[in-house]
Amino acid sequence: MNVIFGVAFFILGSLAVYVFQRKRFAKMTEEDFVCEVVQKAFAREKLSDHNEHNLVKALLKSDAFIKDLSLTAKFKGMIVGYILFTKVKVGDETLLALAPLAVLPKFQKKGIGKSLVEKGHAVAKKLGYKGVVVLGHPEYYTKLGYLPASKWGIKAPFEVADENFMAIELVPGALTGVSGVVEYAKEFGL
Ligand SMILES: CC(C)(COP(=O)(O)OP(=O)(O)OC[C@H]1O[C@@H](n2cnc3c(N)ncnc32)[C@H](O)[C@@H]1OP(=O)(O)O)[C@@H](O)C(=O)NCCC(=O)NCCS
Repeated sequence: MNVIFGVAFFILGSLAVYVFQRKRFAKMTEEDFVCEVVQKAFAREKLSDHNEHNLVKALLKSDAFIKDLSLTAKFKGMIVGYILFTKVKVGDETLLALAPLAVLPKFQKKGIGKSLVEKGHAVAKKLGYKGVVVLGHPEYYTKLGYLPASKWGIKAPFEVADENFMAIELVPGALTGVSGVVEYAKEFGL
Protein backbone atom coordinates (compact mmCIF):
# COMPACT_ATOMS: atom_id res chain seq x y z
CA MET A 1 0.00 0.00 0.00
CA ASN A 2 2.83 2.39 1.00
CA VAL A 3 4.57 1.67 -2.28
CA ILE A 4 1.40 2.55 -4.25
CA PHE A 5 1.05 5.84 -2.33
CA GLY A 6 4.75 6.59 -2.91
CA VAL A 7 4.45 5.98 -6.66
CA ALA A 8 1.23 8.05 -6.84
CA PHE A 9 2.90 10.95 -4.97
CA PHE A 10 5.91 10.77 -7.27
CA ILE A 11 3.75 10.83 -10.41
CA LEU A 12 1.54 13.66 -9.13
CA GLY A 13 4.61 15.62 -7.96
CA SER A 14 6.32 15.24 -11.34
CA LEU A 15 3.11 16.25 -13.11
CA ALA A 16 2.79 19.36 -10.92
CA VAL A 17 6.43 20.35 -11.65
CA TYR A 18 5.84 19.75 -15.37
CA VAL A 19 2.66 21.88 -15.43
CA PHE A 20 4.37 24.63 -13.39
CA GLN A 21 7.36 24.70 -15.76
CA ARG A 22 5.08 24.74 -18.82
CA LYS A 23 3.19 27.73 -17.41
CA ARG A 24 6.43 29.51 -16.47
CA PHE A 25 7.98 28.91 -19.92
CA ALA A 26 4.77 30.06 -21.66
CA LYS A 27 5.09 33.45 -19.95
CA MET A 28 8.82 33.86 -20.71
CA THR A 29 10.04 36.04 -23.57
CA GLU A 30 13.12 35.33 -25.70
CA GLU A 31 14.93 37.96 -23.57
CA ASP A 32 14.02 36.06 -20.37
CA PHE A 33 15.43 32.80 -21.81
CA VAL A 34 18.62 34.57 -22.91
CA CYS A 35 19.10 36.10 -19.45
CA GLU A 36 18.52 32.72 -17.80
CA VAL A 37 21.19 31.12 -20.02
CA VAL A 38 23.64 33.94 -19.23
CA GLN A 39 22.97 33.74 -15.48
CA LYS A 40 23.38 29.94 -15.40
CA ALA A 41 26.53 30.00 -17.55
CA PHE A 42 28.29 32.50 -15.27
CA ALA A 43 26.98 31.03 -11.98
CA ARG A 44 30.18 29.07 -11.32
CA GLU A 45 32.62 31.57 -12.86
CA LYS A 46 35.03 32.75 -10.17
CA LEU A 47 35.89 36.02 -11.91
CA SER A 48 32.23 36.95 -12.47
CA ASP A 49 30.16 39.53 -10.57
CA HIS A 50 27.11 37.36 -11.43
CA ASN A 51 25.42 40.40 -12.86
CA GLU A 52 25.98 39.65 -16.56
CA HIS A 53 22.28 38.88 -17.17
CA ASN A 54 21.34 42.37 -15.93
CA LEU A 55 24.00 43.87 -18.17
CA VAL A 56 22.42 42.04 -21.11
CA LYS A 57 18.96 43.42 -20.20
CA ALA A 58 20.40 46.95 -20.17
CA LEU A 59 22.44 46.50 -23.37
CA LEU A 60 19.44 45.18 -25.31
CA LYS A 61 17.85 48.61 -24.83
CA SER A 62 21.00 50.67 -25.36
CA ASP A 63 22.18 52.77 -28.32
CA ALA A 64 25.14 50.37 -28.65
CA PHE A 65 22.82 47.44 -29.44
CA ILE A 66 22.83 45.88 -32.93
CA LYS A 67 19.97 43.42 -33.46
CA ASP A 68 21.90 41.26 -35.94
CA LEU A 69 24.74 40.84 -33.45
CA SER A 70 22.64 39.38 -30.65
CA LEU A 71 22.80 35.68 -31.47
CA THR A 72 21.47 32.53 -29.86
CA ALA A 73 22.38 28.89 -30.23
CA LYS A 74 19.47 26.48 -29.91
CA PHE A 75 19.10 22.78 -29.19
CA LYS A 76 15.67 21.23 -29.84
CA GLY A 77 14.20 24.74 -29.92
CA MET A 78 15.69 25.67 -26.54
CA ILE A 79 18.25 28.48 -26.17
CA VAL A 80 21.50 26.96 -24.88
CA GLY A 81 24.02 29.64 -25.87
CA TYR A 82 24.14 33.39 -26.38
CA ILE A 83 26.56 36.00 -27.69
CA LEU A 84 26.27 39.77 -27.85
CA PHE A 85 28.44 42.32 -29.65
CA THR A 86 27.84 46.01 -28.91
CA LYS A 87 29.30 49.18 -30.40
CA VAL A 88 32.37 50.77 -28.79
CA LYS A 89 34.40 53.80 -29.80
CA VAL A 90 38.17 53.71 -30.21
CA GLY A 91 39.33 57.13 -31.28
CA ASP A 92 37.17 58.01 -34.32
CA GLU A 93 36.48 54.37 -35.15
CA THR A 94 33.44 52.33 -34.11
CA LEU A 95 34.46 48.80 -33.23
CA LEU A 96 32.60 46.08 -31.36
CA ALA A 97 32.90 44.63 -27.88
CA LEU A 98 32.10 40.96 -27.43
CA ALA A 99 30.27 40.61 -24.09
CA PRO A 100 28.91 38.37 -22.92
CA LEU A 101 29.42 34.91 -24.42
CA ALA A 102 27.58 32.22 -22.51
CA VAL A 103 26.81 28.55 -22.99
CA LEU A 104 24.70 26.52 -20.54
CA PRO A 105 27.04 24.31 -18.44
CA LYS A 106 25.53 21.04 -19.78
CA PHE A 107 26.23 22.16 -23.35
CA GLN A 108 29.79 23.46 -22.89
CA LYS A 109 32.85 22.02 -24.67
CA LYS A 110 30.76 20.96 -27.67
CA GLY A 111 31.84 23.77 -30.00
CA ILE A 112 28.78 26.01 -29.36
CA GLY A 113 30.82 28.96 -28.02
CA LYS A 114 33.21 28.77 -30.95
CA SER A 115 30.40 28.65 -33.52
CA LEU A 116 28.66 31.67 -31.92
CA VAL A 117 31.91 33.68 -32.04
CA GLU A 118 32.55 32.69 -35.67
CA LYS A 119 28.95 33.47 -36.71
CA GLY A 120 29.18 36.84 -34.93
CA HIS A 121 32.45 37.67 -36.68
CA ALA A 122 30.96 36.80 -40.07
CA VAL A 123 27.87 39.02 -39.49
CA ALA A 124 30.02 41.86 -38.10
CA LYS A 125 32.32 41.70 -41.12
CA LYS A 126 29.32 41.86 -43.48
CA LEU A 127 28.06 44.91 -41.59
CA GLY A 128 31.44 46.57 -42.20
CA TYR A 129 32.95 46.52 -38.72
CA LYS A 130 36.75 46.43 -38.61
CA GLY A 131 37.38 44.63 -35.36
CA VAL A 132 36.23 43.35 -31.99
CA VAL A 133 37.62 43.76 -28.49
CA VAL A 134 37.05 41.32 -25.65
CA LEU A 135 37.90 40.99 -21.99
CA GLY A 136 38.33 37.33 -21.19
CA HIS A 137 40.38 34.17 -20.81
CA PRO A 138 43.33 34.29 -23.22
CA GLU A 139 43.44 30.44 -23.35
CA TYR A 140 39.96 30.54 -24.89
CA TYR A 141 39.99 33.62 -27.13
CA THR A 142 43.46 33.12 -28.63
CA LYS A 143 42.13 29.84 -30.06
CA LEU A 144 39.57 31.98 -31.91
CA GLY A 145 42.18 34.36 -33.34
CA TYR A 146 42.22 37.10 -30.69
CA LEU A 147 45.52 38.75 -29.73
CA PRO A 148 46.39 41.20 -26.94
CA ALA A 149 44.79 44.52 -27.95
CA SER A 150 48.04 46.26 -26.97
CA LYS A 151 49.41 44.97 -30.31
CA TRP A 152 47.41 47.82 -31.90
CA GLY A 153 47.72 50.30 -29.03
CA ILE A 154 44.08 49.61 -28.10
CA LYS A 155 43.66 50.04 -24.34
CA ALA A 156 41.00 49.08 -21.83
CA PRO A 157 39.40 51.87 -19.78
CA PHE A 158 40.19 49.86 -16.62
CA GLU A 159 43.18 48.08 -15.07
CA VAL A 160 43.63 44.67 -16.65
CA ALA A 161 46.47 42.28 -17.42
CA ASP A 162 47.67 42.74 -20.99
CA GLU A 163 46.83 39.15 -21.96
CA ASN A 164 43.19 39.43 -20.79
CA PHE A 165 42.26 42.39 -23.00
CA MET A 166 42.23 41.23 -26.59
CA ALA A 167 41.16 42.24 -30.07
CA ILE A 168 40.72 40.69 -33.50
CA GLU A 169 40.79 42.19 -36.99
CA LEU A 170 37.77 41.13 -39.04
CA VAL A 171 39.73 41.92 -42.21
CA PRO A 172 43.54 41.57 -42.26
CA GLY A 173 45.13 44.94 -41.52
CA ALA A 174 41.80 46.59 -40.65
CA LEU A 175 42.98 47.73 -37.22
CA THR A 176 46.17 49.34 -38.50
CA GLY A 177 46.09 52.93 -37.29
CA VAL A 178 43.21 52.27 -34.86
CA SER A 179 44.40 52.98 -31.35
CA GLY A 180 43.28 54.55 -28.11
CA VAL A 181 41.20 53.82 -25.04
CA VAL A 182 38.01 51.84 -25.67
CA GLU A 183 34.82 53.73 -24.80
CA TYR A 184 32.19 51.17 -23.85
CA ALA A 185 28.44 51.83 -23.80
CA LYS A 186 27.44 53.61 -20.57
CA GLU A 187 25.43 50.51 -19.57
CA PHE A 188 28.75 48.77 -18.76
CA GLY A 189 29.10 51.30 -15.93
CA LEU A 190 32.81 51.87 -16.53
C1 LIG B 1 33.60 30.12 -22.18
C2 LIG B 1 32.43 29.41 -22.83
C3 LIG B 1 31.53 30.41 -23.53
C4 LIG B 1 32.98 28.41 -23.86
O1 LIG B 1 31.89 27.86 -24.60
P1 LIG B 1 31.98 26.37 -25.13
O2 LIG B 1 30.81 26.11 -26.01
O3 LIG B 1 32.16 25.46 -23.98
O4 LIG B 1 33.33 26.44 -25.95
P2 LIG B 1 33.72 25.56 -27.22
O5 LIG B 1 33.21 24.18 -27.02
O6 LIG B 1 33.28 26.26 -28.46
O7 LIG B 1 35.29 25.58 -27.12
C5 LIG B 1 36.15 26.02 -28.14
C6 LIG B 1 37.56 25.66 -27.73
O8 LIG B 1 37.92 26.29 -26.49
C7 LIG B 1 38.22 25.32 -25.48
N1 LIG B 1 37.65 25.81 -24.24
C8 LIG B 1 36.37 25.74 -23.84
N2 LIG B 1 36.21 26.36 -22.65
C9 LIG B 1 37.43 26.83 -22.31
C10 LIG B 1 37.92 27.57 -21.18
N3 LIG B 1 37.13 27.94 -20.17
N4 LIG B 1 39.25 27.87 -21.16
C11 LIG B 1 40.05 27.51 -22.18
N5 LIG B 1 39.64 26.83 -23.27
C12 LIG B 1 38.36 26.48 -23.33
C13 LIG B 1 37.58 24.04 -25.97
O9 LIG B 1 38.24 22.92 -25.44
C14 LIG B 1 37.73 24.17 -27.48
O10 LIG B 1 39.06 23.86 -27.84
P3 LIG B 1 39.38 23.05 -29.20
O11 LIG B 1 38.79 23.87 -30.32
O12 LIG B 1 40.86 22.97 -29.22
O13 LIG B 1 38.69 21.74 -29.02
C15 LIG B 1 31.59 28.61 -21.81
O14 LIG B 1 32.47 27.75 -21.11
C16 LIG B 1 30.85 29.49 -20.81
O15 LIG B 1 29.71 29.90 -21.06
N6 LIG B 1 31.51 29.78 -19.67
C17 LIG B 1 30.92 30.60 -18.62
C18 LIG B 1 30.80 32.04 -19.04
C19 LIG B 1 32.13 32.62 -19.54
O16 LIG B 1 33.16 32.44 -18.93
N7 LIG B 1 32.04 33.32 -20.69
C20 LIG B 1 33.19 33.89 -21.35
C21 LIG B 1 33.59 35.17 -20.71
S1 LIG B 1 35.28 35.50 -21.02
